[in-house]
Amino acid sequence: MDTQTSSSSQEQWNDVEEMSSAGSRAGLSRYGVAIFTAILALIVRGLFSPLLGTHDSYHTAWAAIVFVAWYCGVGPAVVTTILTLLGVWYWFIPPGHSFALSDPKAQITGMIGFLILSAFIIALGEAHRRSKERSERELRERTLTEKRLRARETELEALHSALADRVEERTADLNVAVEGLRQLSARLLQAQDDERRRLARELHDSVGQLLAAISMNISTVRSTPLTPEAAAAAEENARLVEQISREIRTMSHLLHPPLLDEVGLASALRWYIDGFSKRSKIAVELEIDGDFGRLPSDMEIAVFRMVQECLTNVHRHSNSSTAEVRITNESGEVRVEIRDAGEGIPLEKQLSLSSSQQSGVGFRGMRERIKQLGGALEIESSGDGTIVKAVMPIGKSPANTANSRATADEEVA
Ligand SMILES: Nc1ncnc2c1ncn2[C@@H]1O[C@H](COP(=O)(O)OP(=O)(O)O)[C@@H](O)[C@H]1O
Ligand SMILES: [Mg+2]
Repeated sequence: MDTQTSSSSQEQWNDVEEMSSAGSRAGLSRYGVAIFTAILALIVRGLFSPLLGTHDSYHTAWAAIVFVAWYCGVGPAVVTTILTLLGVWYWFIPPGHSFALSDPKAQITGMIGFLILSAFIIALGEAHRRSKERSERELRERTLTEKRLRARETELEALHSALADRVEERTADLNVAVEGLRQLSARLLQAQDDERRRLARELHDSVGQLLAAISMNISTVRSTPLTPEAAAAAEENARLVEQISREIRTMSHLLHPPLLDEVGLASALRWYIDGFSKRSKIAVELEIDGDFGRLPSDMEIAVFRMVQECLTNVHRHSNSSTAEVRITNESGEVRVEIRDAGEGIPLEKQLSLSSSQQSGVGFRGMRERIKQLGGALEIESSGDGTIVKAVMPIGKSPANTANSRATADEEVA
């Protein structure tokens, strides 16, 4: 870009230099023209001598002065004037071929008249020449300015297109990075679900089986004659093992409810909400509209986790004694709404939640899951309570859904 600028200013400098050297050449040739014209005027006057004699000696001289004053300027016109005056004086003013004067008074008056008239002609010619030169100069300057403007325009266009290219490149890079992040978080969420499913099955299958074995052993021990203390201890052990089994079962089902894979969202939610209500003493109303059937597996997980997270939030943060969960499946969209009658999310928390960078882990996870499914999450909160809503289109990513259903089936098998 810099080299371009300097080369264009170099060009302009060359233009100026060229113009000034052309000017000095033109100056010299103007004097040449002036001398040549004066000589020509004298020769032509000489040719007319047989006809005019000594009358009208200055006529051809004036013609020469008009021409030179018009085209060559003051200096050359003065030269022409002097040369023609001297020539006419020498050759055509009697007595001829000498600078002597036969009638000095009349002849000197004639010469002065010639000089005065020549001065007028030169002045007029000069005025004309100057205005012509001025308009020519203006034209040249305008052409030069236009040339410079065009060069600047070209430079600006190049700059603009380079900038646009860079912006495009950066945007493409950014899009790649954002897409990478999106894929990573989708994979993380998937990995989390898989891990929870695996943990749930481990707890249920291995710890659950071991506890069942212990329980059988305790039964065997209890069927033998024991001292009263031993019998009491064995009975307490049986009760404790049962309690541990129940808790392990609940924990496993909360990590990943088997009902979700087997009979679907509605049953899994009913089971979860029953348990939640009992544990938290919060009355939860569940409303599922329409014949729900089965949704894509990743959507069922997303809805279940959303309800789970929101109800946990109601329990932990809202101080509400009631909550409502509504799920509808209408015109190709699943809508989920969890509402409580608590004290609402503090205003500064709401602000940081809406700038999604700062939101809590729970909301961020929900938002991400729902976004993966092409949906959106909305939070409304005031002193009267909080409403969390999600809308997800069904059948947005069939390939994805088929995949995750396959994984889920594998896990359950
Ligand atoms: N139902 C609710 N009522 C009142 N405050 C809430 C409710 N749900 C969420 N919040 C507020 O929003 C914050 C962010 O929630 P969340 O993203 O689930 O993170 P976490 O539960 O881990 O704190 C919570 O810390 C809480 O202050
Ligand atoms: Mg939370």
